[in-house]
Amino acid sequence: MIHPFHHQKKNGPNEEAPLVRIEHLAIAFGKPVLRDVSIDIHKGETVAVLGKSGSGKSVLLKLIVGLLSPDAGKIFFRDKEITGMDEFGLMDVRSNMGFLFQGAALFDSMTVGQNLDLFLVKHTDLEEAEREKKISEALEMVQLKDAIDKMPSELSGGMKKRAGLARAIVIEPELILYDEPTTGLDPLTASSIAELIVTLQQRLGVASLVVTHDLPTAFTVSDRAMMLNDGYAVFEGEIEKLQHSGDEFLLEYLAASRLDRERHDKLVQIHEDEKHPNPEPERSPAGPIPEVAKSAETDAKLPETDMNVLT
Ligand SMILES: Nc1ncnc2c1ncn2[C@@H]1O[C@H](COP(=O)(O)OP(=O)(O)OP(=O)(O)O)[C@@H](O)[C@H]1O
Ligand SMILES: [Mg+2]
Repeated sequence: MIHPFHHQKKNGPNEEAPLVRIEHLAIAFGKPVLRDVSIDIHKGETVAVLGKSGSGKSVLLKLIVGLLSPDAGKIFFRDKEITGMDEFGLMDVRSNMGFLFQGAALFDSMTVGQNLDLFLVKHTDLEEAEREKKISEALEMVQLKDAIDKMPSELSGGMKKRAGLARAIVIEPELILYDEPTTGLDPLTASSIAELIVTLQQRLGVASLVVTHDLPTAFTVSDRAMMLNDGYAVFEGEIEKLQHSGDEFLLEYLAASRLDRERHDKLVQIHEDEKHPNPEPERSPAGPIPEVAKSAETDAKLPETDMNVLT
């Protein structure tokens, strides 16, 4: 079958100075997590960050938004150095960054609209009427307009991710940081989120850093990829070149991902079969039909503590 995640060519990097410049970043928590990581991200470009669990992908995102400080190395947003900036400076820089947390991290006691409004109040000086307009535009963009008055508990896993995405884009950022945007979603919902990331990139012209375990997502959304292992970027370049690298770790990672991909294809097939069942399906007379490919994302009960800093 044709894989649902086909790679499309997106806007490549341009010649301007990078939007984000990361130089020789190092951080340790008892043991080294990042040892020496450098990368530039240009305006309008999407870079996937790959690597096994614990390789420091989320740490890298938190360093970029200034939630963590590195032990060594520098991060620049445009010409401003983020590393060592005080909270006032960071607030200013963060108003140009959208962050999609794993689990979306919405405040459960507020409606979707209120969640977005809180973010706008914190990061902009807009009047209420203008904020309402921006909220409605952001929700429209992620096809969630009808959910403005819904509580997060009323949303499915995929809808929560989209609401989190609406919150990330409502401040019209120049950079969006995604932490595992498709993890925990069924394959079809994951694929629609990946497509949405591409659409947002094309319509808003934002630069994005997409942390993911999921190679199909990485291939769908990104121009370039960086693979972290043992504190270093063991690969950095066009994502298509990943598979031609002779690096042993990369090959193992790809082999493991290929197995995942087979599982993924199988699930998509099951999902398709459920949507278009046989005219006379064989059904057991007792008990409900098992739901196989339903969204399995765990609910974000409380926003991650980091959100308190960012909202
Ligand atoms: N605030 C912190 N204090 C102490 N250790 C931390 C902290 N944040 C991260 N670490 C450690 O740094 C390492 C990298 O963590 P990180 O969350 O970046 O991994 P990851 O690549 O995002 O993994 P996953 O794919 O599982 O999300 C882990 O060993 C983690 O325990
Ligand atoms: Mg992580």
